[in-house]
Amino acid sequence: MSEDVRVTEGAVSVGATPASGTSSAGAAPASRRLDAHRGVPVEITFNGVAVSCFDGETLATALLADGVTEFGTTRTGAPRQPLCNMGTCFDCVVVVDGAPLTRSCLTYAVDGMNVESSRGA
Ligand code: FES
Repeated sequence: MSEDVRVTEGAVSVGATPASGTSSAGAAPASRRLDAHRGVPVEITFNGVAVSCFDGETLATALLADGVTEFGTTRTGAPRQPLCNMGTCFDCVVVVDGAPLTRSCLTYAVDGMNVESSRGA
């Protein structure tokens, strides 16, 4: 994984109390933004459609960032998408290069990876 995420000076973690003289409402000042250094661009496909993402991102991150809202369906046809994002709920499962029940939140995107939604799982 080549992703390098740094926090700029004066950054406040999510959920932290705002620094003196700042407001918790509205957009955070530029000094609080994460200075993210992304990996090299890679491309995967989801249900045959190209999805651009970065080396070091999980499939769940890549798909959510691309606007995918349905990773698959339940046996009754209800839509599924990531819930826990840490490998315990299995609501993010997809088919990766033919391998079913692959948890997208634990699988890194690899250039050329073929990802399909999981139906009825
Ligand atoms: S989001 Fe829960 S296992 Fe992936």
